[in-house]
Amino acid sequence: MAESIHITGTSKAERYSSLLPQIHALCEGENDITANLANVAAALKQTFGFFWVGFYIVRENELVLGPFQGPIACTRIAFGRGVCGSSWKEKKTLLVPDVEQFPGHIACSSESKSEIVVPVFNGNGDVIAVLDVDSNSVNDFDTADQFALEQLCDWVGKSIFTHHA
Ligand code: SME
Repeated sequence: MAESIHITGTSKAERYSSLLPQIHALCEGENDITANLANVAAALKQTFGFFWVGFYIVRENELVLGPFQGPIACTRIAFGRGVCGSSWKEKKTLLVPDVEQFPGHIACSSESKSEIVVPVFNGNGDVIAVLDVDSNSVNDFDTADQFALEQLCDWVGKSIFTHHA
């Protein structure tokens, strides 16, 4: 396993391109889901300084808090509730420039102002988890985040969740 992350590039897209292969290397050879998701969250936090970044995992009919970096957060989110539950229900990425404008947004922290939630799918097309990234500034996410985080979550679904003990 790699022991440090070295990010190159100035644009967000370049920084993501530099980060993603290093995340793959970081998780290579480890088949524990919790350990790998924890390092993915840490690598994103370390690279971009996000206010909150982490996973919620589908357990029966709820999302349950998984590995994350940031302040304490809600532990369970119902199907269709908030941005995370809506992303699960709609099976798509939700980019929310201003959480105040999102009906039903769940404020785990009043400091969270914008967010992006990306679903993770299994091979049958079911959502098995979501990646939630929150910022304490409005309008902090764009299509560069969406593109890279969707690539990342595609790999998470195919790699981390399938090659486990
Ligand atoms: N804001 C999210 C809830 C999770 S946290 O902010 C960590 C939502 O509306 O789904």
